Amino acid sequence: MEPNRSYHTESSGHNNGEASHSSTQLSARQKEYLDWRQIRKNITKGETLDPSIQLSCKQKKYLDWLQAEKEKKARRKARWEARKEYARQHGIVKKKVVKVPEVITLMQDSTCDINICIDLSFIGLMTNRYKSETGRQIRKVYEENRAAKAPLHVHLTRYTGLAKERLRKRGVTQEADLHFHEGHYLDVFEKDRLIYLTSDSKNVLDRLEENKVYIIGGLSGHTKHKSLCYRTATSEGIAHAQLPIKSSFNIKSKKSRILHIYQVFQILLKVSEGKSFNEAVRIVFSNRQNILSDAAYYEEDGAYEEEFSD
Ligand SMILES: C[S@@+](CC[C@H](N)C(=O)[O-])C[C@H]1O[C@@H](n2cnc3c(N)ncnc32)[C@H](O)[C@@H]1O
Repeated sequence: MEPNRSYHTESSGHNNGEASHSSTQLSARQKEYLDWRQIRKNITKGETLDPSIQLSCKQKKYLDWLQAEKEKKARRKARWEARKEYARQHGIVKKKVVKVPEVITLMQDSTCDINICIDLSFIGLMTNRYKSETGRQIRKVYEENRAAKAPLHVHLTRYTGLAKERLRKRGVTQEADLHFHEGHYLDVFEKDRLIYLTSDSKNVLDRLEENKVYIIGGLSGHTKHKSLCYRTATSEGIAHAQLPIKSSFNIKSKKSRILHIYQVFQILLKVSEGKSFNEAVRIVFSNRQNILSDAAYYEEDGAYEEEFSD
């Protein structure tokens, strides 16, 4: 079907435009090609094909394909528009950009004394992709904390070697307003102050206390290293707890409640600012459809009490 393009240069000696064609003697094949090109242009513009035009099988197939592509594009556009409309109606802002406030409160000046520790001891267990993801999550934690009016005290333990390198790549260096420790959390804090946060724990957190240190496992990826943080906490004999978020989700599968490092941190920060855990979850996951609506949440409130009473 591809034509012989020599007609551009045949007699006129230049190849810039169709004006030269009229003054050129075109072969039947070349004319056929120009007609075909015009038909394609018209169809692409949305015009319908004149039924009197005779087309080869190959050309008909091509036009069918062109039509199917156009329909596919239209469907994609409609889906995109519907999503945009849904986001507009539900007040969803797609990319959350953490605004840096004009006055930054440093951790040392914060009115909040709650300690969060991100345990970086698992870095060697992750694939490159997840190492990088962990670095990205910690960068977001840093940015969110820096933008807070009353930042939490964020500690990074086992901040050495590979972990240090990964964080440096993500722009988290020792100049950042974070507490960096080369040692393990057991060497940095008293054992009875530690609470390892893990979705596998039977214990459910009900509030945040200032003298406690809440540990978030520096791990990314939900399926790999299942229950690793829970096993670590129990083998070290330290307290552990899951966030009280079960009742906030429509989906009862446990997987939906294994959160990313940054999501856990966001919830803790909101709670430290006076929100309840359920309010915090709804703010953090405002664009997730499997979060219970306010009404459903209050209806289930009784069930929630029961669920976590043991
Ligand atoms: C992506 S998760 C890692 C999952 C990992 N397989 C594990 O062993 O926990 C990252 C961290 O966020 C915290 N986390 C995630 N979901 C949580 C929940 N529902 N309750 C408490 N902590 C949670 C845990 O500290 C966990 O280590």
